[in-house]
Amino acid sequence: MAGQHTFARRIDTCVRGFSRFVRSALFLLPEKIRSASLRFKIAFFTIILLTGTSLILCLMTIQIMNNYILNEIIKRGESVGKSIAASAGYSLLSRDLLGLDTLVFKAKSSNSDMPYVAIVDANTKVIVHSDTPMIGETMHITRGRLFRESGDGTTVRELPNPSDAVFEISCPIVFMDKALGNVVLGMNRSVLIEAQRKVADRVLIIFAIIALLGVFASSLLASFLIKPIRELSAGVDELKSGTTKKRLRIFSRDELGNLTRNFNEMSAQIADQREKLGKYAHDLEDAYVSIVKVVAAAIDARDSYTHGHSARVARLSLLIGKEIGLSRDELAELEIACLFHDVGKIKTPDSILLKPDKLSPAEYQEMMSHVEHGASILSRAPSLAKYIPSTRHHHEWHNGKGYPDGLAGDDIPLFAAIIAVGDTFDAMTSDRPYRKALSEEEALKEITRMSGIQFRPDLVRVFIEQMEKHRVHKMPQSVLKLV
Ligand SMILES: [Fe+2]
Repeated sequence: MAGQHTFARRIDTCVRGFSRFVRSALFLLPEKIRSASLRFKIAFFTIILLTGTSLILCLMTIQIMNNYILNEIIKRGESVGKSIAASAGYSLLSRDLLGLDTLVFKAKSSNSDMPYVAIVDANTKVIVHSDTPMIGETMHITRGRLFRESGDGTTVRELPNPSDAVFEISCPIVFMDKALGNVVLGMNRSVLIEAQRKVADRVLIIFAIIALLGVFASSLLASFLIKPIRELSAGVDELKSGTTKKRLRIFSRDELGNLTRNFNEMSAQIADQREKLGKYAHDLEDAYVSIVKVVAAAIDARDSYTHGHSARVARLSLLIGKEIGLSRDELAELEIACLFHDVGKIKTPDSILLKPDKLSPAEYQEMMSHVEHGASILSRAPSLAKYIPSTRHHHEWHNGKGYPDGLAGDDIPLFAAIIAVGDTFDAMTSDRPYRKALSEEEALKEITRMSGIQFRPDLVRVFIEQMEKHRVHKMPQSVLKLV
């Protein structure tokens, strides 16, 4: 049991080591390959793998064929040598030099890769030699490395310093059980080299065909794998951007096909849930806006003179907002900001808010603090924090003489500057306990007079144009109809 665990640990260590090696090797690849497309990587690594495997197989095949050819050539030499030895016994015994010479001549002339053929006697003295001057010389038939030895005494030796012959084959001549000498012949590499060249040529052609097929197959494999991956990638992008419209195509019935099928199901579920969530969010937003409108109406309703004020300010401000190019979302936000702009008045005592006479300085101070109260109320809900600037600063003046912070020019938030125009116009055109409402012409004249002083000139210009166009300030008193 312990042995099995040790073996498993070793295998695990080997696998981890190999994985680390592959990761390191991949990291060492040029940046261009690492950042290339998946299709290129699959094709590249498949071609490398196929080419490497084919090359190793080709080299092994060439090596095996070389050995086979060498063996066949030596066999042929042995066969020729034995054939001469079988025929030379009687001629050697009878000193038939002509017969021996004929045997040597025939063997030499019919085998181009035999540089010499000789017959030596028992004392290794050359009796017959294809190279005539060698006759009578002593031949060292045991020189070189013994390559092979047969049971009948035939030896094949690899010569140490081959000039014309690489192998020397020596076959004993035996007649009537008496050793009379040896047939000695040399074999060179000419036939071997020619045969090896032919084999190498054919193997290399096969290698080239395999490499071409590899390129084609790797390209096909890359396309086969990439298609569903690209489809999935596009699907994930669509899912991420929330624009999932169609089911992904399934290209195969394998793991990638299953993955695509599962993705389609998951995508459909997400789209369904997203739709439900969107509906809930829309309902929630509607409910939220309704609550805001009710709260704004409730604040306005405390004072019969300001009844519907916030809703009217919203209508007037939206005229400006639309004209200066606010987006749909910004206009929605501006509308809510208008409804909230006087929310701080909820803390203003009735004695001040509803006072029919002019306010004392202290009371006026308290009244002015409604912007800070409003900001404080909104700060308690993070989702309402975006309405704080417009609530806090809608009484700032363009020349910096407003309240509460004395902001001037572009430092005043845009929504606050817009609300300031609508708020003032609606206040001037509404009855107050201490004065009658101004006519719209008088109010517009006053707004124009205060352009650049209390209000942003560009907003005043837009407001005047829009008022002349729409005359929307004549709001029905029934605010609840609006909210
Ligand atoms: Fe206000």
